[in-house]
Amino acid sequence: MKILGIETSCDETAISIIKAEGDIKKPESLRFDVLADAVLSQIAIHKEYGGVFPSVAKREHAKALIPLFKQTLEKTGTLKFEENILDKNTEEQIRKILEREADLADQFLAFIPTISKPDIDAIAVTKGPGLEPALWVGINFAKALSIIWNIPIIPTNHMEGHIVSALTDKIFHSDGTPEPQKAPEVTFPAIALLISGGHTELVLIEDWTKYKVIGRTKDDAVGEAFDKVARMLGLPYPGGPEISKIASISRNSNKENLEFKLPRPMIHSGDYDFSFSGLKTAVLYTVKKLGEIEDETKQDLAREFEDAVVEVLISKTKKAQNEYGAGSIILGGGVSANKEIRHAFENWTKENNLNLFIPNAKLSTDNALMIAIAGYIEHESGGKEFSGMDFVADGNLSLEN
Ligand code: KG4
Ligand code: ZN
Repeated sequence: MKILGIETSCDETAISIIKAEGDIKKPESLRFDVLADAVLSQIAIHKEYGGVFPSVAKREHAKALIPLFKQTLEKTGTLKFEENILDKNTEEQIRKILEREADLADQFLAFIPTISKPDIDAIAVTKGPGLEPALWVGINFAKALSIIWNIPIIPTNHMEGHIVSALTDKIFHSDGTPEPQKAPEVTFPAIALLISGGHTELVLIEDWTKYKVIGRTKDDAVGEAFDKVARMLGLPYPGGPEISKIASISRNSNKENLEFKLPRPMIHSGDYDFSFSGLKTAVLYTVKKLGEIEDETKQDLAREFEDAVVEVLISKTKKAQNEYGAGSIILGGGVSANKEIRHAFENWTKENNLNLFIPNAKLSTDNALMIAIAGYIEHESGGKEFSGMDFVADGNLSLEN
């Protein structure tokens, strides 16, 4: 089955086309051939504002989708032009669907009717969670394609996308990227820790498509806390990699005692929830108290902040692993690129004979490959039938159906 994946939930516009096969009940039979995979990041634009603004994200997605889609089709070698024979009725339907994305409507009508219908059996598009104005752009684009080419849609959960990224070793790139190394199969129950600029969730996975969110942040997402603390320290957006960079300078100095200690919020709360807003505020107070701060102090502060985050994340994940007897641990989301977090999880899982799945950076940050794969998994499980046209974006979409 060939699936077109579309992702516009936050600040990445992404499109992929995959050929998916295999039975989700027999994971060793699964195989995903990537025919094309393109991501356009808006980071450079959001950098100027110091964060992601929904209206800006929406505008940028609307601008990017058609050029990105064209590029994707070219990559598959199946882009063929034909005479534009769009009838008035269909054109009106498409204008109506894209009425809030006027730029996209013009670009769509100038391009899509001039090409042949590609070999695609289904469109998987992110329905949520995410920024609703941004989600709508991808959804309306999917609906317009669905109408013009009569291809069914599978509305897809972004978080499930992050979870299925653990199937990395079943993903084959046709562009010469080395074939993936065989990894152990994900065993169930599994625990996923999904950490990014928008989410912090601990998920119990009983089987593919059977998810239970056992913990989440009560305020800021982990990545958001990294970004805000970075801003306090005068570092650019996105702050995660910057904090990590300067924290490692402090770590390499082998200093024994730092002059301050930050809290480990909710580490002993007895549940699986998180809170990072207090930690962020504690950094702010420390910065204020210190007044003018030198680079070395900034590095120490970044290190202590990173340590606090790592300790809380690993402590809650351990507790969940223990309570549910999970044999597999999955990390997902942009923050999983963090070296200290990776090391902590690698050490713990190795010592306890657990399988750890951390997708590479390209798969752990937002992309459309994970959306196409999640679409396939949902479709094969029979849990979600093809959708009609009347589904809506859901900024708070839950993994628990
Ligand atoms: O998944 P992602 O690309 O986008 C979404 O938020 O959905 O995650 C981006 C977040 C940003 O907050 C960024 O600061 C954080 O991931 N991040 C990191 C690192 N690399 C990216 N946080 C900590 N350490 C890193 N190395
Ligand atoms: Zn994400």
